[in-house]
Amino acid sequence: MSDTPALQLQDIHLKLASQAGDVNILKGINLEIHRGETIAIVGPSGSGKSSMMMVIAGLERSTSGRVMISGKDVTNFSEDELALFRRDHIGIVFQDFHLVPTMTALENVSIPLEFANTPNAYVKAKEQLEAVGLGHRLEHYPSQLSGGEQQRVALARAFAAQPDLLLADEPTGNLDGETGEKVMDLLFNRHKAQNNTLLLITHDPKLAEKCDRTIHVQDGRISDHNLKEVAAS
Ligand SMILES: Nc1ncnc2c1ncn2[C@@H]1O[C@H](COP(=O)(O)OP(=O)(O)OP(=O)(O)O)[C@@H](O)[C@H]1O
Ligand SMILES: [Mg+2]
Repeated sequence: MSDTPALQLQDIHLKLASQAGDVNILKGINLEIHRGETIAIVGPSGSGKSSMMMVIAGLERSTSGRVMISGKDVTNFSEDELALFRRDHIGIVFQDFHLVPTMTALENVSIPLEFANTPNAYVKAKEQLEAVGLGHRLEHYPSQLSGGEQQRVALARAFAAQPDLLLADEPTGNLDGETGEKVMDLLFNRHKAQNNTLLLITHDPKLAEKCDRTIHVQDGRISDHNLKEVAAS
């Protein structure tokens, strides 16, 4: 159904063990995001933003609570089910990129497409890299790329599968102003073309301003919910 939320988090708690004892990282997160919304997630360093994204992506299992994506309860999916679900529905840009160091930029983008049996994986990967301004860096390995370039490879990889839900952790965090704006435009143009749901963790007020809603995370909780008027366009 078209009004099924893209994402629902119900009373998510995340407790992780550390040497100093258990740490309560997420303390009861409730969130509902509609299909096609663009959301900025903001909050101080250490407040739990990346952890929340990892739970949404199914890369970290919550200690309790429920995660529903497009109306599907994925909370108790097996690792294999989660991996398939991610492949088909979710794009992720990690804060530290997670590129495969032994693969070129082109391979980093095309290999996941090949795994998903996408036809013309190399051609599609090349197009994505060109779209983020890296057509001249296809054969470079991550160690031969700048931080901003690696970030753009990570974005190209996430875009390539045309995910329903795109999660990006500081997608413009390592980019200069001009490149950051280009990437921002790219994110929102894709969003317009595909009507996907965008969840962006950001410290960049310009990026947050472009989103429909800003969600504030503070000490493992959502502290404020600012619904911004969506400009009719
Ligand atoms: N594996 C772990 N074990 C124990 N504590 C952890 C673990 N991973 C993260 N934490 C703690 O959880 C808290 C939230 O971390 P998280 O990375 O989600 O913050 P963040 O809001 O994304 O911060 P930043 O803006 O700096 O990226 C931090 O205090 C961090 O030290
Ligand atoms: Mg983080």
